[in-house]
Amino acid sequence: MNSTGRVEFGQVSENNEKIVMTSKEDIEKRLCQCLKNHELPDYLLYMGTGGTKNWLKLDEAKTFPVARQLKVLLEKNLDSIVRFIPTGMSLVSVGVGNGEKERIFLEALVRKNLAENPSSGKVSMRYYPIDINSEFVDIALEKVDNLPVEKKGIVGFIEDIAILKENWRLPILFCVLGNTFCNYEPEFILQLVHENLEQGDLFFFDANLLPTEGTEGQSVRRSVLGTYASRENALFNMYPLLEYGMAPEDFDFELLLAHVNSKIGGVYRTRKSLYILKDTELKIGTETIGLREGDIIRMGFTYKYTYDQITAFLEICGFEILKAFRSEDQANAIILAKKCI
Ligand SMILES: C[S@@+](CC[C@H](N)C(=O)[O-])C[C@H]1O[C@@H](n2cnc3c(N)ncnc32)[C@H](O)[C@@H]1O
Repeated sequence: MNSTGRVEFGQVSENNEKIVMTSKEDIEKRLCQCLKNHELPDYLLYMGTGGTKNWLKLDEAKTFPVARQLKVLLEKNLDSIVRFIPTGMSLVSVGVGNGEKERIFLEALVRKNLAENPSSGKVSMRYYPIDINSEFVDIALEKVDNLPVEKKGIVGFIEDIAILKENWRLPILFCVLGNTFCNYEPEFILQLVHENLEQGDLFFFDANLLPTEGTEGQSVRRSVLGTYASRENALFNMYPLLEYGMAPEDFDFELLLAHVNSKIGGVYRTRKSLYILKDTELKIGTETIGLREGDIIRMGFTYKYTYDQITAFLEICGFEILKAFRSEDQANAIILAKKCI
């Protein structure tokens, strides 16, 4: 540590390890199967080099500030959150993307570790960036190359957490960042995390909330659709069809906001569809997939919760909140939770 109390990180010459549990071919096969069923789940938007570029571009777009605002909220409340993280905990982040938030987090955790053990000069921490896109895992590993922590990247699905967890050293801080939590059925993801965390592990996630300005349904709709139906987000959603040879005029992208029932009452959820306007054959790997004019492809969704709805789901699924922060405009939240004993 230098005299100003800041940690200077030098170049660390450890070789980064990467485990590939899901290959590019696996993902391409899933794309074929999904299109045959007229489905296009959101994870397929992030596939390959095009998926990497598109997400990084969308994340920078003025009209789509979701993940950026969550990063600002994390930076603002970093010290308070880090106080709750025991020294030596491993950091696991699923859906890591470019790993920017994890770099911020790790820097703070390394600083805390060194401050608590100044004599050793060593940090006993491990970092596991996980994503279905191998390129994101590479970017995330590179981003922390000079931090003195052990790193092991994993290419795999959060749904395979029971197998992923064989790779990490306990206890863990399990992160799902960038509003990714809202891309899942709430009880599905919370039960999945609950079943696979051990006592002593922590769960950290963020969410872009339902706008509260004007409680009228119309005003909520306008605000959410303004972000999600922007040209930049539409292009991001159209990418797999464009990548495999369709032209923008061959299909329409539609995004609606639905009010759906749930265990805790009505919640808002986006509903996305692609309407095929022209008979087309897509060549994907060794397969050819035929789409017909009039076909409708159902896509993934994003839930827009109020803060109270998220806390209600956490309670139902057996989590206790340790610390939570909301942005001043109440549009974003970050939550640190643990399993109830
Ligand atoms: C909305 S981006 C968020 C990226 C990053 N966490 C951030 O805050 O900017 C979602 C990320 O999750 C990854 N992803 C999507 N579905 C996944 C799954 N089922 N398992 C693991 N990663 C997934 C995507 O490849 C992408 O990197």
